[in-house]
Amino acid sequence: MNSEKNKSYKKLSDIPGPTTLPFFGTTLSSSGFGGKDLMKSNEEQVKKYGSLVKQEHYWNYPIIEVFDPDDIDKILKHGRYGLIRPPIDIMITYRNMRKDKYTNAGLTNSIGDQWVHLKTRLTKSLHSPQMILNSLPKINETGDDFISLMRQHAPNIIGFEDLIQRVVAENNCHMVLGRRPGLLTKGEDEKLAYFMDIHKKYWCALHNSYYGFPMWKFFPNKIWKDFVECEDTMYSIAEELTQDTLDGHYYEGFFSEYLYDDSVSFFDKVTAVLDFLIAGIETVVNTLIFSICLIAKSESTQKKLQEELCRVLPRKDSPVDAEELKNLPYLKACVKECFRYTPTTPNLARMLETSIQLQGYNIPAYTLILCQTWYNCMQDKNFYRAKDFLPERWLSDGNSATGERFWPHRESVDRHFGFGKRMCPGNRFAFQEICVILAKVFRNFSVEYKDKLDYKYEFLLTPVKPINIIVKELPE
Ligand code: HEM
Repeated sequence: MNSEKNKSYKKLSDIPGPTTLPFFGTTLSSSGFGGKDLMKSNEEQVKKYGSLVKQEHYWNYPIIEVFDPDDIDKILKHGRYGLIRPPIDIMITYRNMRKDKYTNAGLTNSIGDQWVHLKTRLTKSLHSPQMILNSLPKINETGDDFISLMRQHAPNIIGFEDLIQRVVAENNCHMVLGRRPGLLTKGEDEKLAYFMDIHKKYWCALHNSYYGFPMWKFFPNKIWKDFVECEDTMYSIAEELTQDTLDGHYYEGFFSEYLYDDSVSFFDKVTAVLDFLIAGIETVVNTLIFSICLIAKSESTQKKLQEELCRVLPRKDSPVDAEELKNLPYLKACVKECFRYTPTTPNLARMLETSIQLQGYNIPAYTLILCQTWYNCMQDKNFYRAKDFLPERWLSDGNSATGERFWPHRESVDRHFGFGKRMCPGNRFAFQEICVILAKVFRNFSVEYKDKLDYKYEFLLTPVKPINIIVKELPE
């Protein structure tokens, strides 16, 4: 019956796209599919082929890129609301091979009953507004140590990304493991510092395995070796960190219920810790770097933000608690604008359990679909002066000084934390963490960033480093 209906639709193979070759698909002809300049490649494709594009990976494996916001909405809301995010092949392959360590693929890569089980066990407290609020004093504590560290490096901070990584890793360990490794105060926690180093290489290996020729499936090439080295090293660090926590005194935190549950195997606990550190560090690091640089580059934004912060936080070391956060609309607008302008997760992948019809084409079930969400955030038809960084667009009264209103404002195209059942469970925690750190930075310093903010697509949208800034102490 369904297939009868689908006969009136055009086939997947008819969707326009770059020239395809046997075996190589579109990998040789496409304008940078999976290339480092994602926005340029997105714009070129839409111009050439329209808003629905068929790419083919090696072995002519089809990948449908979707640019139209209504189509993206339809996909994300289809069936069981995006239950299947395609697992990352190299991760699944490796974790399946290492049954001695992994009994499951981890929350991020699981599907079906396994995912439902992990999701229920692992994310309950991350969805609790009270638990999120309870984490505020801890974030304030690390935030204050971060400001002291910035002070030690001021005024010319070379390689600022290193300091940002420390504060984020410190916060995430605090949240996941209930203990502070001391990356901001004691100097180096060797294990975690190594985790941070290797973790950058890891994202790059993921990108190359996903978009490049999957030679690693046939023999252990550099991509495979890099990936295995990273996964093994990070696993053994997560193992030690988990053991340290279990050996220490009990703590009440986001994962205590899981970590202290005797019916959960030690290996499963380590996998959960590892996956939350992987998912929650680089994403927040990139967002903080983008936000600080974008605010620093816009004199008027920085001034307005500082005025708001001085009004709400009377002292430079005033805590940023729930009440203060409520009264910082411009700060939140800056964070939202940064997510729109440079989202570290610029697209969403899906496989649907049943076929879907888009623009007269039938897309069969389980086709790999890439929703290019960032592309829509940068279109004038969705956002007023889309290519400009304008936090005011997120305020209900627009720019009260100039009376400028910001229309169109199609907020629903901005999906930086994803959508539906597979949406990021760390969204509230991450948003709050980013707000607190930014509030502390701009309440204490005026920041200058002179370089062009360059970024590349490496599975995540990542700033091209090093980031060098100049900071000047603000008066009390
Ligand atoms: C700026 C920060 C972050 C951004 C932009 C971000 C973005 C995302 C996105 C886009 C997804 C996929 C959603 C989808 O497919 O619909 C995701 C999944 C996920 N994120 Fe985040 N994330 C961030 C921070 C965090 C943090 C701090 C944690 C941990 C506390 C975390 C844990 C996860 C996990 C475990 C998943 C997989 C969920 C699942 O498959 O069910 N993320 N994130």
